Amino acid sequence: MRIPMVIANWKMYKTVSEAVDFFNRFSNEVEDISGVETVICPPFVSLADLSRLLTNTSLILGAQNMHWEKEGAYTGEISPLMLRELGVKYVIIGHSERRNFFGESDRVVRKKVESAFAYGLFPILCIGENWEQFNNGETQQVLKEQLFSALEELNPGREMMSRLVVAYEPVWAIGTGTPATGEAASKVAGYIRELLRKLWGEAAEEIRILYGGSVNPGNILEFTGKPDIDGALIGGSSLKEKLLAEMARAVFHERRG
Ligand code: 13P
Repeated sequence: MRIPMVIANWKMYKTVSEAVDFFNRFSNEVEDISGVETVICPPFVSLADLSRLLTNTSLILGAQNMHWEKEGAYTGEISPLMLRELGVKYVIIGHSERRNFFGESDRVVRKKVESAFAYGLFPILCIGENWEQFNNGETQQVLKEQLFSALEELNPGREMMSRLVVAYEPVWAIGTGTPATGEAASKVAGYIRELLRKLWGEAAEEIRILYGGSVNPGNILEFTGKPDIDGALIGGSSLKEKLLAEMARAVFHERRG
């Protein structure tokens, strides 16, 4: 069974004290929610404080990026080992902002996914087409290239495969207030699962596929209500504890039926 996920990607928002304030208000709001994995991915500097605060709660810690090596002369980078020590479980890899603003290539994304598996982290692999590609009808081709280049050469074993999370984030929907439709996102998620089946066979049924891009409390169920969509990766709307709690709660009630 694929446990649904609600993931907050805070991007470069919130200082450490703001992150701690958020947690103090948020944890009460979601105390009674079970059966949904609520993951918070703050900036690196807040990981240590949140790691302590999240102990004994059902909330899970994620990171927004990492280097693929365990250690080395890589100024400004953070290693998988460092994340592990802080109790980080999930790590976002290949977000379109990393690809577009920091030149992360498919090759780098592959190395990071491989490293996440090697160090016992759960990678959240982000893929998605841009506006031009969307308009040219190239979505499937772009997703296939991104997914295959990240995973094709990897054979991490069945247990590891089920740790993978794939987030479909159309670049044109990120931060624009214009999400994909639930129908379209669902079709794409089905296509991604088909690709995963081709790559990894039956393990594909256990891999969670998320939608991301302008998700908010008003539209989250349009996505998570679809068969192949197992949750949402949320930017802007995850910065307010009330909104994030509302979204986690909506998914919780939806799954309970
Ligand atoms: P928004 O929810 O702000 O559109 O961001 C989505 C995203 O990039 C999450 O990783």
